[in-house]
This record gives sequence, C-alpha cells and structure tokens, in this order.
Amino acid sequence: MSPVAVNKRLLFNEVPDGYLELGVTLKLDSTSQIDLDAPLEEGAILVKTKALAIDPYLRNRMQGPSAKGYIPNFSYSLGEPISNFGIVVVIRSENPAFQVGDHLYDHFKFQEYSIIKDPTTCRVLKNEEKLPWSAYLGTLGMPGQTAYFGWKLYSYAKSGETVFITTAAGTVGAAVVQLAKAQGLKVIASAGSDEKVDYVKSLGADVAFNYKTKSTREVLDELGHGIDIYWDNVGGEILEAAIDALNIFGRIIMCGAISQYNTKTPYGIKNLFHAVTKRITIHGFVVADAIATHKEDFYAEFPKLVAEGKIQHKEQLHYGLGSAEQALIDTFKGDNIAKPVIVLDESL
Ligand SMILES: NC(=O)c1ccc[n+]([C@@H]2O[C@H](COP(=O)([O-])OP(=O)(O)OC[C@H]3O[C@@H](n4cnc5c(N)ncnc54)[C@H](OP(=O)(O)O)[C@@H]3O)[C@@H](O)[C@H]2O)c1
Repeated sequence: MSPVAVNKRLLFNEVPDGYLELGVTLKLDSTSQIDLDAPLEEGAILVKTKALAIDPYLRNRMQGPSAKGYIPNFSYSLGEPISNFGIVVVIRSENPAFQVGDHLYDHFKFQEYSIIKDPTTCRVLKNEEKLPWSAYLGTLGMPGQTAYFGWKLYSYAKSGETVFITTAAGTVGAAVVQLAKAQGLKVIASAGSDEKVDYVKSLGADVAFNYKTKSTREVLDELGHGIDIYWDNVGGEILEAAIDALNIFGRIIMCGAISQYNTKTPYGIKNLFHAVTKRITIHGFVVADAIATHKEDFYAEFPKLVAEGKIQHKEQLHYGLGSAEQALIDTFKGDNIAKPVIVLDESL
C-alpha cells in the first residue's frame, strides 16, 4: 500500500486591509494528501520542506489578484499556498543533478511536501562551513544577498564616509552595518527597541539609537557633519529626514519602505528637490536584479565571512506552518527579534 501522507499547507485566504489578521489572512489546511510512492516524471524530485523564511515583501504579494505587483504576476492567488524562500530536502529523485538527502535552496510553497517538476533553479547547499541551516534563509539567503549586492553595486562607499542605516538590527540592516564598518565607514544606525540598539552597537555601529524614543532628525542634526549614504529600509518620514541630512553628492540606496507596507495613505516626501540641489543619487533596487550576475561571488565570499565570525547573524526559530502568520505579523510590529524562520522538520 502506498504511504499516503497528509500534506499540511498554509493558504492565502483573504486579502488583508492593512495589517494581517491572524487566522483570517492565512489559513492552515490539512485536507490535502500526497502519495509519497507515486511515480515521478523524469527530471522531477519529491522534497520535504525543512524550513521557510518570513520576509517583509510577503506583504506586498498579498494585495490581491487585481493589484499590480512590483514583479509581474507575483501576487498570491486566494486558496493557494503562499510561497517564499526555503530549504527542502530531497526524498526521491528522478533527476541525476539531485540526490536523496540534498538540501536545496529556492522559492517553495508553504507546504510539507512538494513535487518539483523542474528543479533547475534549486541550489544544492553544500554547507561546507557546517553553519546552522537557518542562516541560509537569513544572512546567507535572500536578505543577506540584498545587503551584499546593494552595498557592492550602489553604495560607492569610501573609507571615512558616514552611512545611516535604518532597521539596522534586521537581517538586511545588520549585514549592511557590518559591510560598512569593514570598509572603514562611520555607521549611524537606528532600530526599534533598546535591545535591538545594543545588538547593533555590538556589530560595530558608531552611533545607534532607538528611533521610537529619539527623533531621527535630531540625531542626524547632532552629528554636525551630515551623512554621505542613506540605506533606506523604511521610507516615509525617516527618508525625508535622511534627505535633509545628506551631504552633496550623497547616495540613497532604496532597499525597502516597511513603514508604508500596511498603510492606505502613503507618506508624501516633501523635500525631493534636494536631490537636485545636493546632486543626490537615488538607487532603488530589487535583489533579484543582481542574482544572475553576482550570486556566485556571494556564495564564494559570504559563508566564509559568517563562519569566521566576520559577519554575525541571528535567526528566530518558530515551529510549524501554523506559526508563520504570527511571525509575519510580528515583523510588521517590530516584535521579531531576528529573521523569523519557520522550521517544519528539525530532523532533516
Ligand atoms: N529591495 C530588495 O530586494 C529587498 C530584499 C529584502 C528586503 N528588503 C527590504 O529590506 C527591509 C529589511 O528587511 P529584513 O528582511 O531585514 O527585515 P527585518 O528588518 O528583519 O524585519 C522587519 C523590521 O522592520 C521594522 N519595522 C516594521 N514595521 C515598521 C514600521 N512601520 N516602521 C519602521 N520600521 C518598521 C522592524 O524593526 P524595528 O524594530 O527596528 O523597527 C522589524 O523588525 C524591508 O524594508 C524589506 O522590505 C528589500
């Protein structure tokens, strides 16, 4: 008899109006089954999900079928599992490039098992450094790549310059803090709690502050020398304050605008004319743009830096698909203390 298993899934149930609503936006589903012995097509693999990442951009994909996503056709369909970057383990293979037991990194559905008919985009993670697998969803995954590509391609950083980084205790921000310090910059960093501020200081930030209890504008004014680079993870009013603080020929790396993801009335930036008067370069980017050209550099360099302790990282583990929605809600309230990783199977 074939071993038929329940294949738990996390489904997109309702388009949120503002913040996600627990148990309403997403629904855990146990009605799907999978025959783990059923024949696979040539080239296909059967995988078991080990862990899935929670990233802020998942909210941008929940705008419903009529919204135009920033990547075409990238929004979720109602009643279908959400998906994101994850790590799966091959349990059966009809593809010579993938062996049983291989750990793969790619975009996967939030479900326990998947049949991947065309696994060519999956990367086999060798993990020669024997790092925790969760790191491959944080600093060694998409968010770390974001920091690495964005900094390398768009910062034009020079030793002695000053950079301001928001959401600096998050995965992207923390990596940028460390890249900037390694290059000899003065780092000004903001985060949303005193604990996060202490963490950012431990990473080497020269000035770190809690933007909820101290005015960003005042902190930047008090520097007395302006900033040369602003790494923007938040957008809104803080972006406006950073534009005012930028020096002539300053650069803004527009990585994210998390303060705007759950609001219906986006903040209107009032001082954009300074882009002219100060000759500011504003560079918006999406990590996917650089993956094809720069991902091998990343995998050659970053895991070693992490293993040597030169890039520090933290993940916050949550267990089971059912924990994913709360983890996502926490991300937008600043209640996450590190990159949330949803662990489905610790044994793999
Ligand atoms: N361009 C790209 O390709 C790309 C790729 C990945 C990520 N990103 C962006 O990079 C940023 C950081 O991502 P991450 O993965 O490292 O996430 P993260 O920083 O680990 O988690 C999100 C953090 O954002 C802060 N936050 C939440 N709501 C906020 C609000 N209303 N105003 C200000 N801050 C708020 C919170 O930190 P505090 O407690 O410090 O407020 C929260 O912990 C996000 O904007 C994300 O969308 C962009």
